[in-house]
Amino acid sequence: MRSYSLFLLCLAAALSSASVILSPHMWSKLILTQQWPSTFCAMEHCHSNISYWTIHGLWPDKGMDCNSSWHFNSSEIEDLLPDMEKSWPNLIKPSSSAFWKYEWHKHGTCAAQAASLNSEHKYFSKALELYHKVDLNSVLIKYDITPSEKYYKFSQIEGVLENVYGIKPKIQCVHQSKNAAFQTLGQIEICFDPDFNPLDCEKQLTMDTIPQGNWVTLDQASGLSVCDVDTPVYYPPLP
Ligand SMILES: *[C@@H]1O[C@H](CO)[C@@H](O)[C@H](O)[C@H]1NC(C)=O
Ligand SMILES: *[C@@H]1O[C@H](CO)[C@@H](O)[C@H](O)[C@H]1NC(C)=O
Ligand SMILES: *[C@@H]1O[C@H](CO)[C@@H](O)[C@H](O)[C@H]1NC(C)=O
Repeated sequence: MRSYSLFLLCLAAALSSASVILSPHMWSKLILTQQWPSTFCAMEHCHSNISYWTIHGLWPDKGMDCNSSWHFNSSEIEDLLPDMEKSWPNLIKPSSSAFWKYEWHKHGTCAAQAASLNSEHKYFSKALELYHKVDLNSVLIKYDITPSEKYYKFSQIEGVLENVYGIKPKIQCVHQSKNAAFQTLGQIEICFDPDFNPLDCEKQLTMDTIPQGNWVTLDQASGLSVCDVDTPVYYPPLP
């Protein structure tokens, strides 16, 4: 009995010291999410002639809409706009900044809890920097994974990304139906620790992991889910 309560005491002490180190509001992982425009537009009924992976967002694993009074102001990132338009395009409404505004409010204001990302300029320039550093487009082309009418094995795509980046990415597909003959490649997530080193996407650094519901919200908008290991993967060319 005595040793059991001692155990509980130690556990409580361990938990409380951990939460001193890991502030309860601070995220522990950033998710750089890239989308394949042809797949996105097939789902959202838009038209895009872009045939490279573009940024969907840079998402901390904790929190959404963290500061509603921190308004998006595109003048703050004026110098980044040419790259933003190319690398982080709004596929639904190309000339609008609404997508960046949405991502800033939903995810940027939470990422901004870290000193390294505590301004609009820091947040968007870091997203662009990571996108260019990861250079997913060149990596896939280099390893002969290009949009095609033939199907890929999931393990081929996953293997290339794991070998090149040295971490497990999260690869998402659109599933037409439960037993469909193929799935369509849609989104690739590459994760980073707070120092911006690549990290396995499943790995959690803290005990207070993201509630399941938040993952659902993140992915739901687009109808994407993690690709099946055994189903052939369609990587659609421009329509
Ligand atoms: C893609 O579409 C945009 C706008 O419709 C156009 O300006 C651009 O030239 C097109 N690019 C290609 C490669 O067709
Ligand atoms: C929210 O954003 C406003 C405007 O940038 C800032 O003044 C305020 O300190 C922020 N609040 C928190 C809790 O970070
Ligand atoms: C937007 O940012 C610019 C440049 O930092 C600043 O001059 C301007 O006052 C800001 N506008 C608003 C509405 O905060």
